Amino acid sequence: MPYVNTKTILEKANRGYYAVPALNINNLEFLQAIIDAGVEEKSPLIIETSEGAMKYAGNGDYNRGAKLFVLMVRAFADNIDIPVSLHVDHGKDFKILMAAIKAGYSSIMIDASEYPFEKNMEETKKMVEIAHSVGVSVEAELGRLVGIEDNVVVESHEAALVDPQEAKLFVEETGVDFLAPAIGTSHGAFKFKGEARLDFDRLKQVKDLTGVPLVLHGASSVPEDIKKLAEEYGADFKGAKGVPSEILTESVKYGINKVNTDTDLRMAFIASLREYLAKNPGEFDPRKYFKTPKELVKNIVKDRLRLLGCSNKA
Ligand code: G3H
Ligand code: 13P
Ligand code: ZN
Repeated sequence: MPYVNTKTILEKANRGYYAVPALNINNLEFLQAIIDAGVEEKSPLIIETSEGAMKYAGNGDYNRGAKLFVLMVRAFADNIDIPVSLHVDHGKDFKILMAAIKAGYSSIMIDASEYPFEKNMEETKKMVEIAHSVGVSVEAELGRLVGIEDNVVVESHEAALVDPQEAKLFVEETGVDFLAPAIGTSHGAFKFKGEARLDFDRLKQVKDLTGVPLVLHGASSVPEDIKKLAEEYGADFKGAKGVPSEILTESVKYGINKVNTDTDLRMAFIASLREYLAKNPGEFDPRKYFKTPKELVKNIVKDRLRLLGCSNKA
């Protein structure tokens, strides 16, 4: 089965009340680990790359990076029995989004969430028209990604989280295929200072009013055992805290269908690499020292696929 459109994967998830993780990659090794996990779990996969990842892969040239990612993902997808899509994560630069569409990405995220509502809507609508004309699906974001607790300190969190009525208007006006509503998560390994919590009332309202597949950004869990392993071998992840598994499954119940995950994969890889290098100080063959990190990333992805209910949904 093939390389597919992200919309196909997410509409099926929306109908089936489950979610699919969207997994960030920067290089071949993470992709290999993710593909192995998807195949073993018979799960659909959404692979995503940030603008930074495209520049990195192309050695500074995002056009070259975009082409490389499409070739890499297709080389796997065309030869396995699970649906795989490739998505641009947090696209802010029109030129990079166009490069990705031209290179053959399945879907894009236009992230104009830093602008006022009207301008976000305008930018998103423009991108939807272009992308839809060539069969590429589109994600957009409403509100800002900040932790509820953090945000209370600087301003009322209502100002940063999604407004459900605005979400309804936004989806109707732009024709966007899936929407990322800000409900209290943030990117990276330090998401909550106190207890982890998300605004589920807001999430439920957005789902009721829009009906489209919804996306949870900043959804890494920062598993305790991974954090411990990394710290045992010299990492400093003091205060790292993610979205607990129970909160993730609850968010799926209320309408989340795409769960963006980057930090957990990065942390698993570095934890295992640190351990391997500490135990094998004489090793310098990347095919050897990348083996256990890839294995751990694969296991983290498999855990996620099972947790979100998309195992055996290929
Ligand atoms: O949402 C952000 C992703 O984790 C990608 O981050 O810009 O460091 O590649 P990046
Ligand atoms: P994490 O940093 O929680 O993995 O979130 C990744 C993300 O939202 C990518 O868009
Ligand atoms: Zn994100």
